[in-house]
Amino acid sequence: MFTPQGPTLPELIVQALSSVERGYDLLAPKFDHTPFRTPDRFLDATRDALAPLGPFAAGLDVCCGTGAGVGVLRGLCTQRITGVDFSAGMLREAAARFGGGPGPEPGWVRADARDLPFREEFDLAVSFGAFGHFLPSERPELFASIHRSLRPGGLLAFPLGAPPSPRTPLHWMLRGFDAVMRVRNLVRRPAFVMYYRTWPLGPVRADLVRAGFTVELLPLEAFGRRPDGSPHWRLVLARRAA
Ligand SMILES: C[S@@+](CC[C@H](N)C(=O)[O-])C[C@H]1O[C@@H](n2cnc3c(N)ncnc32)[C@H](O)[C@@H]1O
Repeated sequence: MFTPQGPTLPELIVQALSSVERGYDLLAPKFDHTPFRTPDRFLDATRDALAPLGPFAAGLDVCCGTGAGVGVLRGLCTQRITGVDFSAGMLREAAARFGGGPGPEPGWVRADARDLPFREEFDLAVSFGAFGHFLPSERPELFASIHRSLRPGGLLAFPLGAPPSPRTPLHWMLRGFDAVMRVRNLVRRPAFVMYYRTWPLGPVRADLVRAGFTVELLPLEAFGRRPDGSPHWRLVLARRAA
């Protein structure tokens, strides 16, 4: 799962015992060698699905980390690209990777996604691999913050996976991970909020609608379909009213 350039087990343990922000500061230099960086096939599928809806003038990558989503925005946005994250370490790594290159030069902003310092500035916001860091009770604050950052008519897009069947090892692995995190957060402060099973489609969609978005779902066909015919992965398209 981890390459030799990735973090060692002791490093991962120290990171997991820190706060989310501090944990990512520590992990940042090796983050791209971990499975936590969103794999390119998700980025490519998202870019391909969004391309017919663009081009967009200004794009925001929420919880950008080392800039996985910024690469997607580069192919879709013509004027301005911004990555926002609360880990200074991750932003440093992102800035080092994205100097020069095609499209608008990305800007990097350190801020909490639940309280973004933007007002009606972006036409497109994307986010990858980070929503497990937000408890269900934090979704209204998070979605309101992104909604405020978008211009009227602006679009929030993020991939969302269907829960794996209880008959698969992945289901039990994710359940086990979440259980360990819950115990860790009961006995240790600051909490490290990261859960895999707290963002089911129904409640996420309802929270988006409550925040003022209209929601559409696009199947990401590159990831195939489940035995019942539903897609393994969807792109959630949440639009702020024009
Ligand atoms: C698993 S990484 C994903 C990074 C990148 N989006 C990717 O797909 O590779 C999660 C990122 O979310 C950031 N993050 C978590 N909670 C945050 C918050 N409340 N505000 C801003 N950034 C946050 C972390 O610092 C980290 O960089």
